[in-house]
Amino acid sequence: MANTIEASGSMQEYERKTTSGVAPRTAVQTKKAASARPAKEGFIDVRNLVKVYGGPGQEKIKAVNDVSFTVAEGEFFGFLGPNGAGKSTVIKIITTLLSKTSGSIRVAGLDLESKGADIRRIIGYTGQSIGVDGELTGRENLWLIGRLYHMPNALVNERVDELLEVLQLKDAANRRAYTYSGGMRRRLDLGAGLVHHPRILFLDEPTTGLDPQTRNAVWEYLRKLHKEERMTIFLTTQYMEEADQLCQRIAIIDQGKIVAEGSPAQLKAGIGADVITVRISQGEAFEQGRERALAIVGAVAGVTHSTAFDEGVSAHTADGGATLLEILRRLDAERVPVLQVSLAHPTLDEVFLQHTGRQMRVEEVKPMSRGFRNRRR
Ligand SMILES: Nc1ncnc2c1ncn2[C@@H]1O[C@H](COP(=O)(O)OP(=O)(O)OP(=O)(O)O)[C@@H](O)[C@H]1O
Ligand SMILES: [Mg+2]
Repeated sequence: MANTIEASGSMQEYERKTTSGVAPRTAVQTKKAASARPAKEGFIDVRNLVKVYGGPGQEKIKAVNDVSFTVAEGEFFGFLGPNGAGKSTVIKIITTLLSKTSGSIRVAGLDLESKGADIRRIIGYTGQSIGVDGELTGRENLWLIGRLYHMPNALVNERVDELLEVLQLKDAANRRAYTYSGGMRRRLDLGAGLVHHPRILFLDEPTTGLDPQTRNAVWEYLRKLHKEERMTIFLTTQYMEEADQLCQRIAIIDQGKIVAEGSPAQLKAGIGADVITVRISQGEAFEQGRERALAIVGAVAGVTHSTAFDEGVSAHTADGGATLLEILRRLDAERVPVLQVSLAHPTLDEVFLQHTGRQMRVEEVKPMSRGFRNRRR
């Protein structure tokens, strides 16, 4: 039995399949050149996507309302939004698990409508609900996924060991998964999506419900996959920090619409609110020093707002780095007795607030048991 399986999937054959996939890079480029669509088609290209839930006689819910975005090949892209924003709906449509109402989607140059099966071959997906088998051990669950993807035994074993370690499931690896706690099941589920390294990885809230230590280990692993394998990664998250730490580009989604898009730095710069704080040395010359500092800071190009406070002055600016240098240069030239200067960047929380007028609430832990073991529930 083992021999037959081995014979059907040598390491070379597996590597050839996974590195070339169904749409080798050259083929994608040729297709792009020949296509009537704009030259700037994204590796993942979503245009005017609409999803309305609810059949005849049912309440209609417009979960996705004219969403367009592209993800470049090799990019780490994030969908950031609160509960019910439409993140899972979009990810399920792109991964062919859910039908769209309207719009067009292409993945690696393949049209979703006619080439769904080909797309499924080059992507990996980890959803929010548990997709592992409780009767199998953690190790068996991961091993089985690898074999289903025709990965050779040696490679599966290597990956399974690596993932059990990263997800801190080594000690429980040989226990049946139904004995796992909610957090352990969640980790195993995430592991199942990471066994076969796909060209494009879709992760729906991969770290929701994980403890901070495991979350950090998962972040490290995803960074490694992205860097070493040039994997294109699309993740959804409710965590500002996760999007900030991992993603090169982010789309903020709220109530089915993209409200802002860009790199974390661009998004933060866009709200024009880096804060520079200048503390003045306490002493006889304090009052005079603060007054001069306020006049100097207020006159620097790029400062949108400046105020005095009990220890010195603070200024708002869109580009903190450049403005800080200029402020320092002028304070020094005018011999203002500066004690300390600091620069604080705005967080993505402030970006979300600015674009939606609301703060993003995070629902910490989702129910883990749904769909696990008893899938008909
Ligand atoms: N099968 C369904 N039938 C009807 N409405 C649905 C269905 N699935 C999702 N919705 C609705 O669509 C909207 C978007 O849901 P979706 O699951 O895409 O949000 P989400 O951003 O993934 O949220 P969360 O962070 O809670 O996972 C919500 O209003 C939700 O109630
Ligand atoms: Mg969701």
